[in-house]
Amino acid sequence: MRFPAFAAITALIVSGCTAEDLPSQERVIAPVLTSEQAMDEFTYARPLEARVTHVALDLDLDFEGARVEGTATLDVQSAEDATEIVLDSDGLIIGGITDGNGNDLDYTIGESDPDKGEPITVQLGEMTGPELQQIVISYASGPEAEALQWLSPEQTAGGEHPFVFSQGQAILNRSWIPTQDSPGIRQTWEARITAPDPLTVVMSGISRGDPEMLDEVEGESTRRAFEFVMDNSIPPYLIAIAAGNLEFAELGPRSGVWAEPAQIEAAAEELSDTEAMIDAAEGLYGSYRWGRYDMIVLPPAFPYGGMENPVMTFLTPTFIAGDRSNTGLIAHELAHSWSGNLVTYASWRDGWLNEGVTSYLTARISEEVFGETRVMQERALEYAGVMEALESLGEDNPRTALRTPDELNPLEYSSAIVYDKGALFLHTMESIIGREQFDDFMRGWFDRHAFQPATSEMFLADLREYVIQDDSELEESLMLDEWIYGTGLPENAAQPDPEAFAAVDGAVEAYGTDGTMPATDTWAGWSAFEQRRFLEELPDELSDEQLAALNETLGLSETGNNEVLFLWLEAALRNEYDPAVPQAEEFLGRVGRNKFVEPLFEALWGTGAWGEPIATRIYDETRGGYHSYTRSQVDPIVGFAGGE
Ligand code: BES
Ligand code: ZN
Repeated sequence: MRFPAFAAITALIVSGCTAEDLPSQERVIAPVLTSEQAMDEFTYARPLEARVTHVALDLDLDFEGARVEGTATLDVQSAEDATEIVLDSDGLIIGGITDGNGNDLDYTIGESDPDKGEPITVQLGEMTGPELQQIVISYASGPEAEALQWLSPEQTAGGEHPFVFSQGQAILNRSWIPTQDSPGIRQTWEARITAPDPLTVVMSGISRGDPEMLDEVEGESTRRAFEFVMDNSIPPYLIAIAAGNLEFAELGPRSGVWAEPAQIEAAAEELSDTEAMIDAAEGLYGSYRWGRYDMIVLPPAFPYGGMENPVMTFLTPTFIAGDRSNTGLIAHELAHSWSGNLVTYASWRDGWLNEGVTSYLTARISEEVFGETRVMQERALEYAGVMEALESLGEDNPRTALRTPDELNPLEYSSAIVYDKGALFLHTMESIIGREQFDDFMRGWFDRHAFQPATSEMFLADLREYVIQDDSELEESLMLDEWIYGTGLPENAAQPDPEAFAAVDGAVEAYGTDGTMPATDTWAGWSAFEQRRFLEELPDELSDEQLAALNETLGLSETGNNEVLFLWLEAALRNEYDPAVPQAEEFLGRVGRNKFVEPLFEALWGTGAWGEPIATRIYDETRGGYHSYTRSQVDPIVGFAGGE
């Protein structure tokens, strides 16, 4: 049932069927890769038989029912001999499926798998072949839709209006959008979303202008309709939505930030380096191809630091420190506009192609904007991250290979490997090949595969074609296959500069030797990176007296930097330090970012008799406020088995 002419058909250009008042744009259908390495085991879709090319959403945000409801109209392209199309769903409630003319189509919903959800198989009848056909799905999200988090007014900064946001990556979007939810099946999309006034809706697409005020329906609050469009084909995990009481602040000619009114000023101030970062990234990797670069600062329940949703990066408010010390996060999410959003891993097994390449780009952007010291430090942290992972996993562990081996679940893969070892691979390539030539290569990589899926094999093939050519000595010195498929660390790995943290590491040693603490002034003069390095390198075991003295001298519990505060709380809880419990409880009640929440519960639980009852008590209070992702990470740590 393979479809031989598929490549030719995917090169077809179709004109969009967008709103009448917009000029119709050209939409290019991105090819689906056919190689073995590109296969995604987390989708039910069989894209070589029939695939979605475009999604048009028409949805109402129902805050009382905590669900979205409406229709998804899918453009579908199929092989001549295909009979059906398979979509991904996770708990969607389907009302009916029709063709573009309103004729009912037969469909079945398969058995549900805890990871993948369930397949929806739609009979295409006569509608097969390369011509685009439409199917219209009437549906609502289910009560446990994992991508969506509905927040009560109390969970927002303003405390008066509800809020909702989505998090699609990795395979959560199928809980609110019935489509083929696989990074290798790129789709363009458009949406019309209604929400109660005065809430504002933002999405990871270009806004079609001012919202339309809808007629008041008796007994219901006034609603507004917002329209968005994304004419670049993207992996469907990048379709994202947020709605709340939002204000906008302009940052530069093509960038701005949305936040709740209470936070808009601090957010805009913290993000004032954004245009400089976009310019730096463009200088390195070619033009920014998405038009605008806006961001939204979400309520603290957001489970990540940042998420690179196109034209609308989603951010935790915990990055706001008052001194721009955590804006490496922005450089990272911005860099995904090239690595991840423009060129995307075809399957989850190549996680490094998104996150490792992005971590490398982040360091390069930071170097341009913040100078060399900062990048030297980022590289030292990255190297330390790899070494720590290798030590805890063991050098021969298959989990230390960049390309995830078949037997492992790539969704549970070590982030130190994906991010840090991935970045170290590229730093090593840069140092052997030379910066100028390697930068040319990376620019070419993004150009050649723009808006298309990619694999590790394609990256290696391109390196061989454009850089190595027939230079067998160079081929040998790069050790490419060892980097991608081998465990541990290849011997050519670029070494970090030992001077990167010289001052801090000296202070760590002095503390370890005779308890000498950095002077208050010295500490205050360190960058947030340096402060974090000091806290991370402290001995695991610290007495109550030591913790009290550290806190007293360095003012740890009073820091405005949440990364520093987190490290302090982690050290305190790990060492059963009672005075820190109230602050930890307050922090865990306020913040849902998994990077902070999971290790703090781990620290508590790890102490046994001291921390277990504290963890249980706090989690009982805070679990309801966490996103499904954070819950899924903490539940097993604290042995939570209470269901939803
Ligand atoms: N794309 C990731 C977040 C992600 C990865 C979500 C995998 C789901 C599955 C995002 O770009 C990211 O890496 N965020 C980091 C930022 C940090 C590395 C600067 C985070 O949230 O901590
Ligand atoms: Zn990332």
